[in-house]
Amino acid sequence: VKDGNGVKGMVDSGLSEVPDQYIQPPHERISKLDSNPHVLTPIDLSQLDGPNHDQVVEALVKASETLGFFQVVNHGVPVELLERVKDAAHQFFNQPPEKKAVYLKGVSPSPFVKYGTSFVPEKEKALEWKDYVSMVYTSDEEAIKYWPEKCKEPVLEFLKTSTKMVGRILEVLLGKLGVTLDDSMADTYTGARMLNMNFYPTCPNPELTVGVGRHSDMGTLTVLLQDGIGGLYVKVEDDCDTGSKGEWIEIPPIPSALVINIGDTLQILSNGKYKSAEHRVRTTSTQSRVSIPIFVTPRQTDKIGPLPQVVEKDGVAHYREFLFGEYMNNFFGKAHEGKKSLDFA
Ligand code: SIN
Ligand code: FE2
Repeated sequence: VKDGNGVKGMVDSGLSEVPDQYIQPPHERISKLDSNPHVLTPIDLSQLDGPNHDQVVEALVKASETLGFFQVVNHGVPVELLERVKDAAHQFFNQPPEKKAVYLKGVSPSPFVKYGTSFVPEKEKALEWKDYVSMVYTSDEEAIKYWPEKCKEPVLEFLKTSTKMVGRILEVLLGKLGVTLDDSMADTYTGARMLNMNFYPTCPNPELTVGVGRHSDMGTLTVLLQDGIGGLYVKVEDDCDTGSKGEWIEIPPIPSALVINIGDTLQILSNGKYKSAEHRVRTTSTQSRVSIPIFVTPRQTDKIGPLPQVVEKDGVAHYREFLFGEYMNNFFGKAHEGKKSLDFA
């Protein structure tokens, strides 16, 4: 791992068994029996501008209140670009180890680009079966100068073309809470972006490992592009049409769709009405998988807490106020452990 070869390097060099440090305790393993894909009808965002506006709003709100996950189509990101982003991820990870190692923590030319394995290896009892490169967006100049050559163009384009959709979804969800999303609020709640390219190599013992352990995302919304392999699971929080409480259901790949999930920040802003969903990723022995999430978050210096309009209606605030930077440090200071990140709030 330290030499920049990652999990992929281990797998490429021929591996018949998973090394001990990747073996999950039994209660974290994902059994094949859990693999029951549910059909979640994708939400057509173009219909927000047509006669079906109200139904689309209802669908977005209901999914956010129950599962915390939904898929969208006609989202404004060109489908051809989605293919280029996935290709870029493959190209990055297919490079020789020394090309990737340049971005390892401590040597990366930018504090905003980092290549690594697992989530916080130094804190984890068992490592996650995944390599990643993360890119924090600060400016076009910085991105063009420092982001990996093979990725920066499509990745920047993905960030840009998804921005309008993110604003629209947030506008709808906050609108339902009686809050009008103005420019300054949009800046506060969606002012920062981080994009990851994740690579999940094939695994000789998928029944013993996880690609990503149970967690919720820390930000406002996550926009996730996944390839056609599958393996993303979400835990049903509330009884909803898609499953029953506590059950893990798969978010099946839909070509040309994007997966959207609610993060901790939006759960907090909404005083608990919208659900930051617990999710995890399974590994497979047959095909490697890529996924590319965009984490839309507040800036570190922004203050976050339940929206006053919602607290007034609810009569009680279920979370405290804090600086988002503090939340982030807490999130990245611990191994994934379900929705424990929310205890900070
Ligand atoms: C994650 O939630 O960290 C990754 C999701 C995915 O790979 O589908
Ligand atoms: Fe996640």
